[in-house]
Amino acid sequence: MLKSGINQCWSTPIYKTQITLDQCEELVQEILLSTNIMKPQAEYDSGSLTDKIPLLKDLAIEKYSEFFKEVFSIDLNDMSYEFSSWLTGSQKGYSMNIHNHSGAQFAAVFYVLSDDIDKGGELVSYDPRANANRGYFGKTAEMFKPIEYAPKTGDVIIMPGYVYHLVKTYHSNLRLAVPVDIFIKQKKSS
Ligand SMILES: [Fe+2]
Repeated sequence: MLKSGINQCWSTPIYKTQITLDQCEELVQEILLSTNIMKPQAEYDSGSLTDKIPLLKDLAIEKYSEFFKEVFSIDLNDMSYEFSSWLTGSQKGYSMNIHNHSGAQFAAVFYVLSDDIDKGGELVSYDPRANANRGYFGKTAEMFKPIEYAPKTGDVIIMPGYVYHLVKTYHSNLRLAVPVDIFIKQKKSS
């Protein structure tokens, strides 16, 4: 495989990693202290959660570093960047229409509390390759299927910001999911 230029982008990396249950517990406490879970934070204070919760910022750096190293063999330390993060809707009935994270090169979601299974809330990510030749007979359909993922507490998903995705309706009482977008500005000057 030639690992350069567009060849790296074609596979559209959608990555899953984890934080520990102890880290989740601490983040839940911090989120309850610094947000109003009855009203999604994005609606009144978009983007500042990593500034309010140092542990969230540390974990965002750690997990994005892991992602860049594993997927692109790039050291996040060589870049200057900013985060934008907020709390999504956490109550029963929450869903999000299809969208992408415009302007952010990559988007992560930290599922800090997602204990109930089979209660909806799946993340569905769609193939962004509008020009992909998918064939006429469906024999390669698997390669172009959306990825549907039912998150559990501690899961972290990272994907390119251009990937369109939606969140299916959530049917249980409380879930805390925190997106952290990364805006990479430039290579640090050495
Ligand atoms: Fe999103």
